[in-house]
Amino acid sequence: MKKLVVLSGAGISAESGLGTFRDKGGLWDEYPVEEVATYEAWLNNPSLVLDFYNKRREAVLSAKPNNAHIALAQIEKNFDVTIVTQNIDDLHERAGSKDVLHLHGQILLGKSSVQEGDSNFVNVGAEGIKLGDRAPDGSQLRPHVVWFGEPVPNIPRAEEIVAEAEILIIIGTSLNVYPAANLLYKARRGAKIYLVDKNDVNAPKSISVHHVKGEASKTLPQLLSEISKI
Ligand code: APR
Repeated sequence: MKKLVVLSGAGISAESGLGTFRDKGGLWDEYPVEEVATYEAWLNNPSLVLDFYNKRREAVLSAKPNNAHIALAQIEKNFDVTIVTQNIDDLHERAGSKDVLHLHGQILLGKSSVQEGDSNFVNVGAEGIKLGDRAPDGSQLRPHVVWFGEPVPNIPRAEEIVAEAEILIIIGTSLNVYPAANLLYKARRGAKIYLVDKNDVNAPKSISVHHVKGEASKTLPQLLSEISKI
């Protein structure tokens, strides 16, 4: 089966009721990034950071996958699909996608605040994370989320995955955040690249990208069924 790789962003989960970051009224309008999504913010005011992610976790737990997530899970019968997502929600997995790589972490996991490594991952549900909750190594538990300025350990793996793609579909991302935004340049020559976004996008000049304009839950199922006929 052909290798189909997806690079998804907050826009794919917007119709599930989860806020995007840079749309009008998005999360970064409501919360200054430097107060809730940097390591400095964590050191300055850990309870504000914990509240921010506890609220987002509650929203994720009450959200449901939409037709875009579901269509991507269903297309696994026709293609070898890997999803590389910038999203920290679990909607791809809940829709049934089997191979999902998270670049910026997973909000339903907590981890050590002093050292990297999966051995410190802890499942976190609706109870959230409070000051005093401990990771297995005894440190304060923190959200398993990549904050601005922190390394993105899954990028090398993501670059390998994108380089294997015969079809690359970029969905619901403003391509504003690096290194994730660089991934589309890792696509092999001859790969078909689609960009699904409800708004106009400043698609790169150097590579040919087919912009599919519209809301993902409506445009993506249609695009996938067309691709399946090729
Ligand atoms: N259907 C399709 N596209 C949509 C929809 C929708 N229903 N709603 C919004 N979009 C598009 C917007 O037009 C925009 O291009 O989704 C994109 C969302 O962009 P951002 O809000 O910047 O989200 P994202 O690109 O995922 O942000 C990347 O930035 O803040 C960090 O770590 C955070 O992972 C995040 C990263």
